Amino acid sequence: MAAANGQVLHKPLGLLAELTHRCPLGCPYCSNPLKLESRADELDIGTWARVFREAAALGVLQVHISGGEPAARRDIVDIVAAANAAPLYTNLITSGVGLREQTLAALAAAGLDHVQISIQDSRAASADHIAGYQGAYARKNALAAEVVRLGLPLTVNMVVHRANIERIEEMVEQALQLGAGRIEIAHVQYYGWALENRAALMPSREQVERAVATVETLRGRHRGRIVIDAVVPDYYARFPKPCVGGWGRRSLNVTPSGRVLPCHAAECIPGLEFWSVREHSLQAIWESSPAFNAFRGTDWMPEPCASCPRREQDFGGCRCQAFLLTGDARATDPVCHLAPNHAMMAELAATQADAPYVYRR
Ligand code: SF4
Ligand code: FES
Repeated sequence: MAAANGQVLHKPLGLLAELTHRCPLGCPYCSNPLKLESRADELDIGTWARVFREAAALGVLQVHISGGEPAARRDIVDIVAAANAAPLYTNLITSGVGLREQTLAALAAAGLDHVQISIQDSRAASADHIAGYQGAYARKNALAAEVVRLGLPLTVNMVVHRANIERIEEMVEQALQLGAGRIEIAHVQYYGWALENRAALMPSREQVERAVATVETLRGRHRGRIVIDAVVPDYYARFPKPCVGGWGRRSLNVTPSGRVLPCHAAECIPGLEFWSVREHSLQAIWESSPAFNAFRGTDWMPEPCASCPRREQDFGGCRCQAFLLTGDARATDPVCHLAPNHAMMAELAATQADAPYVYRR
């Protein structure tokens, strides 16, 4: 089947449901936009239930229930039950703060399949400083223990940057002690709040090289005990990441107010027209909305991507990063060593400072 722009139409596999932008924490690398959507604009439960059914009919297998902090929604249990009934595999992405034990038990009873908790550091004082919330570390650890006690599979997500990159080994040890089946070590990606804090978050090349070697050692040491996934920091890479598995190819994001985006940062690109689930079905949005078709396939690519053998592997990198760094969303992601603007990456990565964070508020 073809999309409205004539490109091959793939089935989406994953849906990121951002229930709310409200969150008690203020992480300086938050992936939410700088301009947060308000509580008054949030979709109601009936609309989310329809979106989940439409997603399942479209081929989506898994919904990541996220935010902000999704537990800030009082109807979180009903929302998870609706996703479960769609039917979708449900993964709750939580800060662990603001989700009470009784609610967690109710979520498990409502069919929740998996929980992902973010932990900011292996040391409490640093973790609380990064989160901008006193006591966050203790509450996250307590909730993680409760997840395991309830028999739910747990992934620990640790975002790595210059303040904690030297403690990857401790962080993996912590995830093991918590009983997590998987740890995701994700270097900061510089969009939105993280871009505001780039110099304060940027690790040095030597730190990154040590981190990559540490992850390999830990994978060998803990094989069979925990899965270690690592997202490398692309400012130091030679090739870009295949962002979101290719634009309009694998996934959709629904914002708290119902706007459907091809990726979490897509609203940073001016001129894209996003459709809302309030006015359109998810199928119509996936197939025909202008934003999804803007960079679908390979026809939009300029050189060097247009004739590059890797164009179906990395899809020219990240459109949002290309725009944020070059002002042109069609440009080759400057992370690529073949990109005309690649020289800027070394310069940007070298700009590092132990500056105070601009917290997400
Ligand atoms: Fe990927 Fe484009 Fe670089 Fe080729 S030139 S490796 S397609 S970003
Ligand atoms: Fe938007 Fe990469 S974050 S395409």
